[in-house]
Amino acid sequence: PATTTPVATTPAPLVIAHRGASGYLPEHTLGGYELAIKLKADYIEPDLQFTQDGKLVAMHDDTLNRTTNVATLFTARNGGYKVSDFTLAEIKTLTVVPAGTASATYPGFTPSMAEPYRVPTFDEFLAFAKTHASVGIYPEAKQADPAMEDAILASLKASGYTAAGSKVFIQSFSDATVRSLKVKQNAQGIKVPLMLLGVAKMENGVAKMGVISGTGIKLLTFEDVKSFADGIAPAINYDAAGYPISKEFIDQAHAAGLKVHGWTFAVADATKAPAEYRKYLDMGMDGMFSNYSDLAVLARDAF
Ligand code: G3P
Repeated sequence: PATTTPVATTPAPLVIAHRGASGYLPEHTLGGYELAIKLKADYIEPDLQFTQDGKLVAMHDDTLNRTTNVATLFTARNGGYKVSDFTLAEIKTLTVVPAGTASATYPGFTPSMAEPYRVPTFDEFLAFAKTHASVGIYPEAKQADPAMEDAILASLKASGYTAAGSKVFIQSFSDATVRSLKVKQNAQGIKVPLMLLGVAKMENGVAKMGVISGTGIKLLTFEDVKSFADGIAPAINYDAAGYPISKEFIDQAHAAGLKVHGWTFAVADATKAPAEYRKYLDMGMDGMFSNYSDLAVLARDAF
Protein backbone atom coordinates (compact mmCIF):
# COMPACT_ATOMS: atom_id res chain seq x y z
CA PRO A 1 0.00 0.00 0.00
CA ALA A 2 1.08 3.56 -0.62
CA THR A 3 2.51 5.21 2.44
CA THR A 4 2.13 8.83 3.35
CA THR A 5 4.40 10.96 5.45
CA PRO A 6 2.66 11.86 8.69
CA VAL A 7 2.06 15.56 9.02
CA ALA A 8 2.82 17.02 12.42
CA THR A 9 -0.24 18.81 13.70
CA THR A 10 1.48 20.57 16.56
CA PRO A 11 4.99 22.04 16.53
CA ALA A 12 7.60 20.27 18.63
CA PRO A 13 8.16 21.86 22.04
CA LEU A 14 10.68 24.67 21.74
CA VAL A 15 14.14 24.72 23.27
CA ILE A 16 14.97 28.24 24.39
CA ALA A 17 18.62 28.90 25.24
CA HIS A 18 18.28 30.67 28.59
CA ARG A 19 20.76 33.59 28.56
CA GLY A 20 22.57 31.73 25.74
CA ALA A 21 24.46 28.55 26.54
CA SER A 22 24.62 29.90 30.08
CA GLY A 23 25.40 26.57 31.75
CA TYR A 24 28.57 26.31 29.68
CA LEU A 25 29.86 29.77 28.70
CA PRO A 26 29.55 33.35 30.00
CA GLU A 27 25.87 34.32 29.83
CA HIS A 28 24.46 36.95 27.49
CA THR A 29 27.45 36.96 25.15
CA LEU A 30 27.69 36.42 21.40
CA GLY A 31 30.06 33.52 22.05
CA GLY A 32 27.48 31.92 24.35
CA TYR A 33 24.66 32.50 21.88
CA GLU A 34 26.75 30.99 19.10
CA LEU A 35 27.35 27.86 21.17
CA ALA A 36 23.60 27.62 21.92
CA ILE A 37 22.89 27.69 18.19
CA LYS A 38 25.52 25.00 17.64
CA LEU A 39 23.77 22.96 20.36
CA LYS A 40 20.59 23.30 18.28
CA ALA A 41 18.53 25.63 20.44
CA ASP A 42 15.40 26.88 18.65
CA TYR A 43 15.53 30.31 20.32
CA ILE A 44 18.22 32.37 22.02
CA GLU A 45 17.25 34.61 24.93
CA PRO A 46 18.62 38.02 25.83
CA ASP A 47 17.50 39.81 28.97
CA LEU A 48 17.67 43.56 28.45
CA GLN A 49 18.88 46.45 30.58
CA PHE A 50 19.37 50.16 29.80
CA THR A 51 22.79 51.77 30.01
CA GLN A 52 23.18 55.29 31.43
CA ASP A 53 23.01 56.70 27.90
CA GLY A 54 19.85 54.80 27.04
CA LYS A 55 21.19 51.87 25.02
CA LEU A 56 19.75 48.39 25.43
CA VAL A 57 22.33 45.75 26.37
CA ALA A 58 21.96 42.01 26.92
CA MET A 59 22.24 41.41 30.66
CA HIS A 60 20.15 39.73 33.34
CA ASP A 61 21.06 41.67 36.47
CA ASP A 62 20.49 45.38 36.88
CA THR A 63 24.07 45.46 38.15
CA LEU A 64 27.29 44.64 36.35
CA ASN A 65 29.34 42.95 39.03
CA ARG A 66 28.08 39.35 39.04
CA THR A 67 28.82 38.71 35.37
CA THR A 68 31.61 41.13 34.42
CA ASN A 69 35.02 42.30 35.61
CA VAL A 70 33.67 45.81 36.27
CA ALA A 71 35.00 45.94 39.83
CA THR A 72 38.56 45.47 38.58
CA LEU A 73 38.27 48.43 36.18
CA PHE A 74 35.94 50.96 37.86
CA THR A 75 35.15 52.16 41.32
CA ALA A 76 31.56 51.84 42.51
CA ARG A 77 29.02 54.55 41.66
CA ASN A 78 26.13 55.45 43.93
CA GLY A 79 27.28 52.61 46.17
CA GLY A 80 27.32 49.91 43.48
CA TYR A 81 27.63 48.92 39.85
CA LYS A 82 24.20 49.52 38.35
CA VAL A 83 24.08 49.07 34.56
CA SER A 84 22.17 52.34 34.41
CA ASP A 85 25.10 54.19 36.06
CA PHE A 86 27.55 53.28 33.27
CA THR A 87 27.68 54.42 29.65
CA LEU A 88 27.73 51.98 26.78
CA ALA A 89 31.31 53.03 25.98
CA GLU A 90 32.33 52.11 29.54
CA ILE A 91 30.41 48.84 29.48
CA LYS A 92 32.09 47.97 26.19
CA THR A 93 35.45 47.88 28.00
CA LEU A 94 34.25 45.06 30.27
CA THR A 95 34.71 41.33 29.85
CA VAL A 96 31.86 39.00 30.73
CA VAL A 97 33.09 36.34 33.12
CA PRO A 98 31.74 32.83 33.73
CA ALA A 99 29.01 32.66 36.39
CA GLY A 100 27.18 29.70 37.88
CA THR A 101 28.27 26.47 36.18
CA ALA A 102 29.72 28.29 33.15
CA SER A 103 33.38 28.12 32.10
CA ALA A 104 35.62 30.36 30.00
CA THR A 105 35.77 27.81 27.18
CA TYR A 106 33.72 24.92 25.81
CA PRO A 107 35.46 21.78 24.49
CA GLY A 108 35.72 21.75 20.70
CA PHE A 109 34.11 25.16 20.26
CA THR A 110 35.86 28.29 19.03
CA PRO A 111 33.64 31.36 18.72
CA SER A 112 33.69 32.93 15.27
CA MET A 113 33.74 36.58 16.44
CA ALA A 114 36.84 38.52 17.48
CA GLU A 115 35.55 39.45 20.95
CA PRO A 116 33.01 36.80 21.97
CA TYR A 117 32.73 37.77 25.63
CA ARG A 118 31.94 41.48 25.60
CA VAL A 119 28.50 42.80 26.61
CA PRO A 120 26.47 42.95 23.38
CA THR A 121 23.98 45.67 22.66
CA PHE A 122 20.51 44.49 21.73
CA ASP A 123 21.15 45.70 18.17
CA GLU A 124 24.39 43.68 17.99
CA PHE A 125 22.49 40.66 19.30
CA LEU A 126 19.85 41.13 16.59
CA ALA A 127 22.43 41.53 13.82
CA PHE A 128 24.17 38.36 15.04
CA ALA A 129 20.91 36.39 15.25
CA LYS A 130 19.97 37.53 11.74
CA THR A 131 23.02 35.74 10.38
CA HIS A 132 21.58 32.45 11.72
CA ALA A 133 18.28 32.23 9.89
CA SER A 134 17.12 29.08 11.64
CA VAL A 135 17.26 30.46 15.17
CA GLY A 136 14.58 32.54 16.84
CA ILE A 137 14.97 35.25 19.46
CA TYR A 138 13.20 35.72 22.79
CA PRO A 139 14.06 39.13 24.35
CA GLU A 140 12.94 39.99 27.88
CA ALA A 141 12.17 43.50 29.09
CA LYS A 142 13.90 43.42 32.47
CA GLN A 143 12.53 46.78 33.63
CA ALA A 144 8.85 47.72 33.69
CA ASP A 145 9.66 50.90 31.81
CA PRO A 146 7.63 52.22 28.84
CA ALA A 147 10.87 53.52 27.31
CA MET A 148 12.20 49.97 27.27
CA GLU A 149 9.05 48.75 25.48
CA ASP A 150 9.53 51.44 22.84
CA ALA A 151 13.22 50.66 22.42
CA ILE A 152 12.61 46.93 22.04
CA LEU A 153 9.89 47.45 19.43
CA ALA A 154 12.03 50.01 17.55
CA SER A 155 15.02 47.67 17.38
CA LEU A 156 12.90 44.69 16.34
CA LYS A 157 11.29 46.80 13.64
CA ALA A 158 14.59 48.22 12.36
CA SER A 159 16.12 44.74 12.15
CA GLY A 160 13.17 43.21 10.35
CA TYR A 161 12.04 41.01 13.25
CA THR A 162 8.51 42.39 13.17
CA ALA A 163 7.94 41.01 9.66
CA ALA A 164 5.44 38.18 9.31
CA GLY A 165 7.02 34.78 9.83
CA SER A 166 9.81 36.03 12.08
CA LYS A 167 10.76 33.70 14.92
CA VAL A 168 10.42 36.03 17.89
CA PHE A 169 8.67 36.30 21.24
CA ILE A 170 8.84 39.18 23.71
CA GLN A 171 8.58 38.34 27.42
CA SER A 172 8.21 40.20 30.71
CA PHE A 173 7.46 39.48 34.37
CA SER A 174 5.39 42.68 34.44
CA ASP A 175 1.80 42.35 33.27
CA ALA A 176 1.72 46.15 32.94
CA THR A 177 4.59 45.90 30.44
CA VAL A 178 2.96 43.11 28.44
CA ARG A 179 -0.41 44.93 28.43
CA SER A 180 1.34 48.08 27.21
CA LEU A 181 3.31 46.18 24.54
CA LYS A 182 0.03 44.77 23.26
CA VAL A 183 -1.47 48.26 22.95
CA LYS A 184 1.66 49.63 21.26
CA GLN A 185 1.89 46.69 18.87
CA ASN A 186 -1.76 47.12 17.90
CA ALA A 187 -1.15 50.82 17.25
CA GLN A 188 1.92 50.03 15.13
CA GLY A 189 0.46 47.04 13.30
CA ILE A 190 2.98 44.65 14.89
CA LYS A 191 2.08 41.12 15.97
CA VAL A 192 5.07 39.72 17.86
CA PRO A 193 3.80 37.06 20.29
CA LEU A 194 3.90 38.27 23.90
CA MET A 195 4.66 36.00 26.87
CA LEU A 196 3.88 36.76 30.52
CA LEU A 197 6.40 35.36 33.00
CA GLY A 198 5.39 34.27 36.50
CA VAL A 199 4.20 31.23 38.41
CA ALA A 200 1.45 28.63 38.02
CA LYS A 201 -1.45 28.46 40.46
CA MET A 202 -4.52 26.25 40.78
CA GLU A 203 -7.28 27.90 42.81
CA ASN A 204 -10.37 25.77 43.48
CA GLY A 205 -9.67 23.81 40.29
CA VAL A 206 -9.20 26.93 38.19
CA ALA A 207 -5.75 27.65 36.70
CA LYS A 208 -4.41 31.18 37.14
CA MET A 209 -1.18 32.97 36.32
CA GLY A 210 0.71 34.41 39.26
CA VAL A 211 2.54 37.65 38.60
CA ILE A 212 5.53 38.08 40.90
CA SER A 213 5.85 41.58 42.33
CA GLY A 214 7.59 43.23 45.24
CA THR A 215 4.45 42.94 47.34
CA GLY A 216 3.73 39.28 46.64
CA ILE A 217 2.03 37.27 43.93
CA LYS A 218 -0.98 38.67 42.07
CA LEU A 219 -3.23 36.07 40.42
CA LEU A 220 -4.64 36.76 36.95
CA THR A 221 -7.37 34.73 35.23
CA PHE A 222 -6.52 33.18 31.88
CA GLU A 223 -9.37 35.20 30.37
CA ASP A 224 -7.56 38.37 31.44
CA VAL A 225 -4.12 37.10 30.32
CA LYS A 226 -5.51 36.05 26.96
CA SER A 227 -6.67 39.62 26.34
CA PHE A 228 -3.07 40.88 26.19
CA ALA A 229 -0.67 37.90 25.89
CA ASP A 230 -0.19 34.91 23.60
CA GLY A 231 1.26 32.69 26.24
CA ILE A 232 2.54 32.26 29.75
CA ALA A 233 5.94 31.30 31.08
CA PRO A 234 5.57 29.82 34.57
CA ALA A 235 8.46 28.76 36.81
CA ILE A 236 9.16 25.04 37.13
CA ASN A 237 10.79 25.45 40.52
CA TYR A 238 8.07 27.06 42.64
CA ASP A 239 6.47 23.78 43.74
CA ALA A 240 7.60 24.13 47.35
CA ALA A 241 6.21 27.66 47.48
CA GLY A 242 2.79 26.37 46.42
CA TYR A 243 2.95 27.15 42.70
CA PRO A 244 3.53 23.83 40.93
CA ILE A 245 2.90 23.35 37.21
CA SER A 246 0.49 20.47 36.54
CA LYS A 247 -1.09 18.87 33.49
CA GLU A 248 -4.39 20.39 34.56
CA PHE A 249 -2.79 23.85 34.60
CA ILE A 250 -1.35 23.37 31.10
CA ASP A 251 -4.59 21.88 29.77
CA GLN A 252 -6.53 24.92 30.99
CA ALA A 253 -3.93 27.26 29.45
CA HIS A 254 -4.26 25.47 26.13
CA ALA A 255 -8.05 25.59 26.35
CA ALA A 256 -7.68 29.37 26.74
CA GLY A 257 -5.41 29.47 23.67
CA LEU A 258 -2.26 30.20 25.67
CA LYS A 259 1.14 28.62 25.00
CA VAL A 260 3.11 27.46 28.06
CA HIS A 261 6.92 27.85 28.22
CA GLY A 262 8.54 26.78 31.51
CA TRP A 263 11.64 28.27 33.18
CA THR A 264 14.35 27.40 34.09
CA PHE A 265 15.68 23.93 33.30
CA ALA A 266 19.06 23.92 35.00
CA VAL A 267 19.97 20.30 35.77
CA ALA A 268 23.54 19.87 34.50
CA ASP A 269 23.81 16.13 35.12
CA ALA A 270 23.06 14.44 31.79
CA THR A 271 21.82 11.34 33.58
CA LYS A 272 19.31 13.28 35.70
CA ALA A 273 18.18 15.99 33.27
CA PRO A 274 16.01 13.80 30.98
CA ALA A 275 13.53 12.98 33.75
CA GLU A 276 12.89 16.64 34.46
CA TYR A 277 12.28 17.53 30.81
CA ARG A 278 10.13 14.42 30.38
CA LYS A 279 7.98 15.36 33.38
CA TYR A 280 6.94 18.65 31.76
CA LEU A 281 6.83 17.34 28.18
CA ASP A 282 4.36 14.71 29.40
CA MET A 283 2.19 17.51 30.79
CA GLY A 284 2.10 19.14 27.36
CA MET A 285 4.55 22.01 27.87
CA ASP A 286 5.21 23.94 24.64
CA GLY A 287 8.69 25.32 25.34
CA MET A 288 11.53 25.05 27.82
CA PHE A 289 14.04 27.69 28.89
CA SER A 290 17.24 25.73 29.50
CA ASN A 291 20.80 26.54 30.53
CA TYR A 292 21.89 23.38 28.69
CA SER A 293 20.35 23.46 25.21
CA ASP A 294 21.95 20.16 24.20
CA LEU A 295 20.27 18.31 27.09
CA ALA A 296 16.94 19.97 26.33
CA VAL A 297 17.17 19.05 22.63
CA LEU A 298 18.04 15.44 23.48
CA ALA A 299 15.04 15.14 25.80
CA ARG A 300 12.69 16.91 23.40
CA ASP A 301 13.77 14.80 20.43
CA ALA A 302 13.39 11.59 22.44
CA PHE A 303 9.84 12.58 23.44
O1 G3P B 1 12.74 34.30 30.84
C1 G3P B 1 12.64 33.10 31.51
C2 G3P B 1 13.57 33.19 32.61
O2 G3P B 1 14.71 33.75 32.07
C3 G3P B 1 13.13 34.05 33.71
O3 G3P B 1 14.11 34.12 34.61
O4 G3P B 1 15.51 35.49 35.95
O5 G3P B 1 16.48 34.35 34.01
O6 G3P B 1 15.00 36.27 33.65
P1 G3P B 1 15.33 35.11 34.54
